[in-house]
Amino acid sequence: MSSDAFVEVAKLSEVPPGEVKCVEVSGIPVALCNVNGEIFAVGNVCTHDGGELSGGWLEDHGIECPRHGARFDVRTGKVLCLPAPVPIPTYPVQVEGDVIKVKVS
Ligand code: FES
Repeated sequence: MSSDAFVEVAKLSEVPPGEVKCVEVSGIPVALCNVNGEIFAVGNVCTHDGGELSGGWLEDHGIECPRHGARFDVRTGKVLCLPAPVPIPTYPVQVEGDVIKVKVS
């Protein structure tokens, strides 16, 4: 399989609406976020001080870091609330039936 292929990472049923699940894709920690049935994949590491975003809270399209409250838009990775200084990465997602696939490169 080439390194730029989509990789199966989880079942859709494992990430209910409003929930976040951490997976690892090619060694990269990724947070899968279900916003009203749509899946988004973002880097799981907060750019402020390394907090695990999958342990935080998802509200609408914003995910909040559990450590100091930085928020990011899961659609773009953009910072919505300090203290995070820079965006988090976002990754393309494919959902095929009950299978979630992510591409990290
Ligand atoms: S580590 Fe995420 S806000 Fe500080």
